[in-house]
Amino acid sequence: MTDKRCDIGLVGLGVMGKNFALNMADKGFRVGVYNRTEEKTRQFIEEAGHRPIEPGYSLEEFAGILKQPRAILIFVPAGDPVDEVIGELLVETEAGDLIIDSGNSHFKDTDRREESLSEKGILFLGMGISGGEYGARHGPSLMPGGSEEAYNRVRPVLEAAAAHVKGEPCVTYLGPHSAGHYVKMVHNGIEYGIMQLIAESYDLLRRCLNFDEKDLSSLYAGWNEGKMNSYLMEITAKVLDRKDDRTGRPLVDMILDRARQKGTGKWTSWDALDLQIPVPTIDVAVAMRNMSDYKQEREKAGRVLSGPSESYQGDRETFVRRLERGLFAALILTYAQGLSLLRQASHKYGYRLDLEAVARIWRGGCIIRAALLEDIRSAFHRQPDLENLLLSPELGSEVTERQEDLRDVICTGIGLGIPVPGFMSALAYYDAYRSVQLPANLIMAQRDFFGAHRYERIDSEGTFHTEWEA
Ligand code: 6PG
Repeated sequence: MTDKRCDIGLVGLGVMGKNFALNMADKGFRVGVYNRTEEKTRQFIEEAGHRPIEPGYSLEEFAGILKQPRAILIFVPAGDPVDEVIGELLVETEAGDLIIDSGNSHFKDTDRREESLSEKGILFLGMGISGGEYGARHGPSLMPGGSEEAYNRVRPVLEAAAAHVKGEPCVTYLGPHSAGHYVKMVHNGIEYGIMQLIAESYDLLRRCLNFDEKDLSSLYAGWNEGKMNSYLMEITAKVLDRKDDRTGRPLVDMILDRARQKGTGKWTSWDALDLQIPVPTIDVAVAMRNMSDYKQEREKAGRVLSGPSESYQGDRETFVRRLERGLFAALILTYAQGLSLLRQASHKYGYRLDLEAVARIWRGGCIIRAALLEDIRSAFHRQPDLENLLLSPELGSEVTERQEDLRDVICTGIGLGIPVPGFMSALAYYDAYRSVQLPANLIMAQRDFFGAHRYERIDSEGTFHTEWEA
């Protein structure tokens, strides 16, 4: 087939690629597909049935069935495979064509690729896509960045394929260069933070109150009906309700407590450290996944290191209510950290991000979608240059009003020896952010003492050094 009639091309028929191809085809776009393994393409074409999807069994054939200038989405694992596919596509594409990397690529790789492709006249978009297999098939949140001209070319197909909330598509042009992949990276960092907080709440409930999975599942399902309505709350309730086919026990109890990671949470923390933006709840979430990996060592330590032995003595209902309120406050604090990172990164990297738009496209399709994002969106709508979500009168008071609950939850965890570093880091972020005076003056004095690093004074300009032992 050599007719140039496909609206868009897609390379990589893994789970995400296949589902996104079906999604676009169901929206009426003619999709050309290519996979390195021919057999996979054949199987997919059979699966696609009557849909407007056409195969290219070689890259040459694939390039031949696409309308020109071509627009090609690539769905291959982040890292070297993206460079390999781009390298192969360069042979068959020409100036004016567009390549869209839809993987979880590191934003610095995206900048590098954009630069090298622009030398050849090829347009490039780095597009984060969130929502897993279901999202890819039925409507993900799409986070594209790069050439605006390129975005406008594929805008109709992306808007049609994205999730929709209140009639608005969960996709928008985010900004130049790696803006899209950066936003996706921070999305994942927030995802790590939220997952850690929910996990800590689960740990408290089962270890303090001896909740079983059935109680837990209905509790999270109930929370999902309220202010904490969100995808992660919804799936937590479903996960806890699932029985293991083999043993009949709750499946979650049969799952080994070692959390794996592909790296996007760590990248968020890394870049936040580089940019000197505090995101402690995300840092802790990464650290706790790392801690979980030391299963054998923890088993050994558990035999020799003791902790408090008492059980929870307080009122159960009060604790559950406080936990719900404290968790909500901690969730706001986590979004606040991620969005503050985006704000600063936008200045540093020249993304010109519109944070209201970011909140808008995160309301549907993606893993961190939540009713709260509607309020976050409104906060940035009212104040586009808002430095931190906590300075929004509405969201700031949501946290302030729940701080006692958060403090109480943390004290309970500490008293019983149950680790709650996510909650602690969120509260510490709140307390540090509102502290007019932090003890950094002492740190500066120490630095000057041992390294003559100098310090600034509160009463005069310039830097100073003291001979501390004189
Ligand atoms: C999404 C997810 C997706 C993926 C993560 C998992 O937005 O759809 O974030 O990108 O599931 O890569 O990340 P970890 O393997 O690091 O937990």
